[in-house]
Amino acid sequence: MTEIIDGNEVADGIESELESCVETLESAGVTPGLATVLMSDDEASETYVSMKRRACAELGIESVHAELDPTEPTETLLEQIDDLNADPAVHGILVQLPLPDHVDDRAVLERIEPTKDVDGFHPENAGLLVAGESRFKPCTPHGIQRLLAAADVETEGKDAVVVGRSNIVGKPMANLLIQKADGGNATTTVCHSRTADLGEKTREADIVIAAAGYPELIDGSMIGDGAVVIDVGVNRVDADTEKGYELVGDVEFESAKTKADAITPVPGGVGPMTIAMLLYNTVKAASIQEDVPVSLP
Ligand SMILES: NC(=O)c1ccc[n+]([C@@H]2O[C@H](COP(=O)([O-])OP(=O)(O)OC[C@H]3O[C@@H](n4cnc5c(N)ncnc54)[C@H](OP(=O)(O)O)[C@@H]3O)[C@@H](O)[C@H]2O)c1
Repeated sequence: MTEIIDGNEVADGIESELESCVETLESAGVTPGLATVLMSDDEASETYVSMKRRACAELGIESVHAELDPTEPTETLLEQIDDLNADPAVHGILVQLPLPDHVDDRAVLERIEPTKDVDGFHPENAGLLVAGESRFKPCTPHGIQRLLAAADVETEGKDAVVVGRSNIVGKPMANLLIQKADGGNATTTVCHSRTADLGEKTREADIVIAAAGYPELIDGSMIGDGAVVIDVGVNRVDADTEKGYELVGDVEFESAKTKADAITPVPGGVGPMTIAMLLYNTVKAASIQEDVPVSLP
């Protein structure tokens, strides 16, 4: 019987454990604050930001929101970030990606004060992660690491294949898996669009993490018997539904399920974990900046 790993359940557990951290901060006179910045008309980005703000409100994190016209130049966004960097009520800053094509993503991510960089994308935080001294682990890979632990999936000594090498998912995921630490110690292969034979790599893996952004790229024929499959992909495909589309992952769920020992669904797998780990990083950021120790879950 294949286990369907329930991301909502694991995320709920982490969020309820974070409540006592927020109480500790509150009793020291600190309300953790997250700033979300949206510079896009994209409906999915708007939805992601409102989900993150709702989750903050439920946990007692104050959220402030800035919306910028997507036609504005990079400089306008940099000025907004400077204001948030200087605001003592803001402990974490999240700039919703993707940004418009004309905006210099790199300049934007580098402008965020590293101790407020709750996405963990600033080069200083990326470097700390690689060095095994992470301050803020990027939310999606961290969420996946927690999901594997919650499902009692041992990573040590296992062969893991990460499909995708983006700075926000694939690379930090692979970095976490190779760390000499709990949730790491896996022998890790990173695949991408130039990988000669993707199926040959994924079939050999004990753990497959699919983050390609390509609908149902990986089917059951590409999964080895008894593997654990984590599907990061969120892809809109045309469908005869009210909205005119449906969400599918990077994995063809039904065929992969026949081979896997455990698999995450889309939605309800990795997505809720990304939000839970954003809340985690925001609480951690408040604890660091205000020098109030908390027992993070
Ligand atoms: N659930 C969540 O919370 C969450 C969070 C973040 C992202 N996501 C989803 O995860 C997916 C990946 O996101 P991302 O930001 O990492 O995407 P991205 O920046 O577009 O990167 C995609 C990566 O996949 C590789 N790739 C694309 N097509 C491939 C193929 N046919 N075979 C092998 N590799 C292929 C690309 O290779 P090259 O480098 O060679 O181009 C690239 O490295 C998206 O669907 C995104 O919506 C979900």
